[in-house]
Amino acid sequence: MSRGLTTLRGRSALVTGGASGIGAALGKALVAAGCHVVLADLDGAGAERTAVGLAGPGSARGVGLDVTDADAVEAVVAGIVEEYGRIDLVFNNAGITLIGDTEQLSLAQWNAIIDVNIRGVVHGVTAAYPRMVAQGSGHLINTASMGGLMAAGLLTSYVMTKHAVVGLSLALRSEAAAHGVGVTVVCPAAVDTPILDKGEFGSISGRDYYLKGQGIKKPVDPDALAARVLQAVVADEAVVIEPRQARLAYRLQRFAPGLVRRASVSFVAKQRRGAAR
Ligand SMILES: NC(=O)c1ccc[n+]([C@@H]2O[C@H](COP(=O)([O-])OP(=O)(O)OC[C@H]3O[C@@H](n4cnc5c(N)ncnc54)[C@H](O)[C@@H]3O)[C@@H](O)[C@H]2O)c1
Repeated sequence: MSRGLTTLRGRSALVTGGASGIGAALGKALVAAGCHVVLADLDGAGAERTAVGLAGPGSARGVGLDVTDADAVEAVVAGIVEEYGRIDLVFNNAGITLIGDTEQLSLAQWNAIIDVNIRGVVHGVTAAYPRMVAQGSGHLINTASMGGLMAAGLLTSYVMTKHAVVGLSLALRSEAAAHGVGVTVVCPAAVDTPILDKGEFGSISGRDYYLKGQGIKKPVDPDALAARVLQAVVADEAVVIEPRQARLAYRLQRFAPGLVRRASVSFVAKQRRGAAR
């Protein structure tokens, strides 16, 4: 964990996209570790339901928040500082996906994914990072994806946004360290959440793409990922890549980039054939 944060117990935390999936699992793990958590989500009622279901020793409450609204993100972070006197952990986790052939993607869809996946993270950073610098401690945790490290076709807009999140996180980490602030970027492959069935705009099936196409029999369990992320925060790790198969693929890309690029072309062709059947 970054300087000044030696334990999770008693920390104040914000998790965006906290109503569902990875965000909800992070909320559960944080409350179990003794943190006071605000679960913020476009689905405010869902965030409240998720928060109510979490058992102590920490606490949780849910709020409605659209991360594309910078003023609203600022207000939520300011509210946490007012309540707890500081903001310790911010998980910029809310995200959307779009899957299909890029020639069918409208400008409105490009802008929507940029707004949530890039600007949403920037809004979390602009609201929390200066406060963490002033405190001399804190930790930002940004959920990117394996798509932020490897370039998977048919997910082009998503891949672009997640590469941006990886770049932001690693660059900021290098300047934040001197202020006692940590930055961790989370890069999972398929995780068992509702997002696997969202964002299809053509004939490609998200679930087939993320699982069958990549030979993944079982997607990562969100609770297991959340536990791994909290471990990485405590250890102040730069990047979390899960599962092992994803770490191996990332290593292969570094050592045999041509092979991986050729495999990506075949992978796209296979997905299109699957969709055409
Ligand atoms: N599940 C996976 O396979 C996987 C893999 C890699 C990365 N990710 C990333 O993990 C993050 C969480 O996704 P998930 O898998 O839990 O999906 P999910 O769909 O279960 O949860 C995403 C949550 O974000 C919320 N959200 C969407 N737009 C928002 C906005 N504008 N403001 C506030 N909240 C908003 C949704 O309402 C939803 O509750 C995303 O950034 C996603 O890209 C997921």
